[in-house]
Amino acid sequence: MTQRLVAGAAALRGTILVPADKSIGHRALLANAIADGEATVRLRAPGRDLESTISCLARLGVDIRRTGDAVTLRGALLRPAVESIDCGNSGTTMRLLAGVMAGQAIEGVLDGDESLRRRPMERVATPLRAMGARVATTGGHAPIELRGGRLHAMSHELPVASAQVLGAVAFAALGCDGSTTVHLPGPTRDHTERLLAWMGVPIRREGAWTTIAGPARPTARSLDVPGDPSSAAAWLVAGALHPDADLVLPGVGLNPTRLAFLDVLREMGIRVEVEESASDGPEPVGEIRVTSGERPRPIRIGGEEVAALIDELPLLGVAMAAADGASELRDAGELRVKESDRIATMVAGLAAIGARVDELPDGWRVSRGTARDAAIATGGDHRIAIAFAVAALAGVAGTVQVDDAEAASVSYPGFWDHLDALAAVPA
Ligand code: S3P
Repeated sequence: MTQRLVAGAAALRGTILVPADKSIGHRALLANAIADGEATVRLRAPGRDLESTISCLARLGVDIRRTGDAVTLRGALLRPAVESIDCGNSGTTMRLLAGVMAGQAIEGVLDGDESLRRRPMERVATPLRAMGARVATTGGHAPIELRGGRLHAMSHELPVASAQVLGAVAFAALGCDGSTTVHLPGPTRDHTERLLAWMGVPIRREGAWTTIAGPARPTARSLDVPGDPSSAAAWLVAGALHPDADLVLPGVGLNPTRLAFLDVLREMGIRVEVEESASDGPEPVGEIRVTSGERPRPIRIGGEEVAALIDELPLLGVAMAAADGASELRDAGELRVKESDRIATMVAGLAAIGARVDELPDGWRVSRGTARDAAIATGGDHRIAIAFAVAALAGVAGTVQVDDAEAASVSYPGFWDHLDALAAVPA
């Protein structure tokens, strides 16, 4: 593991092009891999998770060619894989691919790294099994074995508000005869619906229900995957908390189901401006700008809004640690089954940088303390590495030593270069 030291920046000014959105990228690759025709998915600086999806598809016999950031795929029936398919650190790859493979009755074993092997997989195996797929997990975890099975359309009530599980069922439903409906207990990102509808699949979301009419095959369509708002959130939080900041993030995806964190930042009194530009793809895109302001106000996050903020909660934890007064996060037990137990890793990190923090079963309570130097154990989790680098850069912490710098490249391979470029700008 490579350690990284991060100190406060004199000022944060500039324009940053964040990498391609992970959620949209996975779906665009998978949908085009099984589509009718050939298409190119342009992924700016794809992170390790997107590379995992590309290599899994290659293992399943998909014809994939790469030129720089452009990935060209020719849609086909997948080929069964004899050896296990490595999804790396990527839960989205594993869960969505399980759905895609079930939809085509493709046999194979999906496996991943140590962190992915700890994450819950019955949540995706259960609905696929109910549809008729033969799926076995390993005590509820990866490796997951898929053994084909004839699928039938049905109605699902999913117990977790998970876009990954919804996406898996939707991909599987492409192979069913009839109407599959999925009900989620809370709102989630709707990238699967937007993309598949744009590729000609009869799919729609109405309130908490998504309906897919099968059998259906997407029509191949090339797209430019917009920048990842969850990566943009790093600079937005850094800019919001730094006393001398003006940061511009062009080409970011502006899907409203991903922008709940902007509302939270605004509620904390932070100035963020959004300007939408023209998009020829399934997703809105535009520029986000943040300028520094007053010290943020404390906030309470809980209930249904948590699912829409799930990937930004570590960064919002850092913002909470800059506010005077107690902020609270509740109903976020899902954080315990992400790439690390993000409640435990965040609480330990926040305490280390000098914030006043209490761990709660489903979240944390935090307020500003006295910023100090700290060594941060990321648990190999990209969002934790990025969150505490931001805490140091913005001065919410003293100098921070991140134990595993490479972790950031799961979602953001150029993160440290962008950080260095910003830190080099004089006040
Ligand atoms: C994702 C959904 C979320 C999110 C993950 C990506 C997706 O997970 O945390 O980073 O692309 O569907 P859940 O669906 O499990 O909440």
